Amino acid sequence: MSKFEQVKTELINTPKTWLVTGVAGFIGSNLLEMLLKLNQTVIGLDNFATGYQKNLDEVKSLVTENQWQTFSFIEGDIRDFDTCIKASKDVDYVLHQAALGSVPRSIADPITTNSANITGFLNMLEAAKQNNVASFVYAASSSTYGDHPALPKVEENIGNPLSPYAVTKYVNELYADVYSRTYGFKCIGLRYFNVFGRRQDPDGAYAAVIPKWTAAMIKGEQVFINGDGLTSRDFCYIENTVQMNILAATAQDDAKAHVYNVAVGDRTTLNDLFSSIKSALIASDVNVEQDAEYRDFRAGDVRHSQADVSKAIKNLGYSPSHRIQDGISEAMPWYLKNVN
Ligand SMILES: NC(=O)c1ccc[n+]([C@@H]2O[C@H](COP(=O)([O-])OP(=O)(O)OC[C@H]3O[C@@H](n4cnc5c(N)ncnc54)[C@H](O)[C@@H]3O)[C@@H](O)[C@H]2O)c1
Repeated sequence: MSKFEQVKTELINTPKTWLVTGVAGFIGSNLLEMLLKLNQTVIGLDNFATGYQKNLDEVKSLVTENQWQTFSFIEGDIRDFDTCIKASKDVDYVLHQAALGSVPRSIADPITTNSANITGFLNMLEAAKQNNVASFVYAASSSTYGDHPALPKVEENIGNPLSPYAVTKYVNELYADVYSRTYGFKCIGLRYFNVFGRRQDPDGAYAAVIPKWTAAMIKGEQVFINGDGLTSRDFCYIENTVQMNILAATAQDDAKAHVYNVAVGDRTTLNDLFSSIKSALIASDVNVEQDAEYRDFRAGDVRHSQADVSKAIKNLGYSPSHRIQDGISEAMPWYLKNVN
């Protein structure tokens, strides 16, 4: 039995109380879905800045009535400390996802990104500490590797941040480290590498590449590749990300701050990604004829990204269940149903 299966069985036998911030977003709503299916009690916090009620409604449709009853939602902002205190009261584990994602958004508006991602983060961290939660797991980011050239990325070797967003995620790690050393508070940062899957927003200027391209291809719209198409990423399906959050929160660990890469260890170029999505759509009987059009590189983007996930495998018993192609195939029915 895998470590994750073991942990899930333990949680079903001894349910806990979880706070998921950013619960109406892509990753948050997937955490909510898994936790409710494991009969956990979940408090969710979101201000709908980039999340949606429809994500919560979808989770409701995927769990039983009894499971849904154990969920309580607070519409509120992590920039308000009292809201964070209220949300984390009597909570065992915090999974802190609320933040403003997107490198280009942070370049266009660094002030708003800073307030959600740094002030909001510190509020949540301090509130969780004051409420004596057992562990604080937070969404860090592979953008923290910045301009460090080495591949694959190992947690200890980071470079200079390339965007305001990357600065905010690095500051989160610094605060978590200080909180663990100063207060003995267990904080674990998960450096996500391009997560994708159901409920990831395909719309808007700051949409991530997989939902954006999939939606464009379904609608017969032009797909643009920024740069020469050889830029590469370690795309991580949502199931792997959910697994890491639950393993990290429940790990019997000391109060040392840890950061972990959350990915697969693969590297896929944008050209290959385009072909994979196109093939998956054709396999689903969608007629995709157009080719991608190349345009300029995008400011703030790192050129290549690939994770070394051995630390998570060794310390947490992580075992990625989906490689990119598995994830694209699994997510495709969701896109076909939801893109219009
Ligand atoms: N998706 C990825 O590939 C990826 C990669 C690296 C890191 N991350 C991080 O993972 C986390 C979740 O990202 P996601 O992809 O689910 O994005 P998302 O935009 O779908 O979810 C973020 C959620 O946080 C909420 N939120 C934002 N500001 C808030 C505030 N001030 N108060 C309360 N709620 C607020 C939003 O409304 C949204 O529901 C973020 O911290 C993001 O930076 C994501």
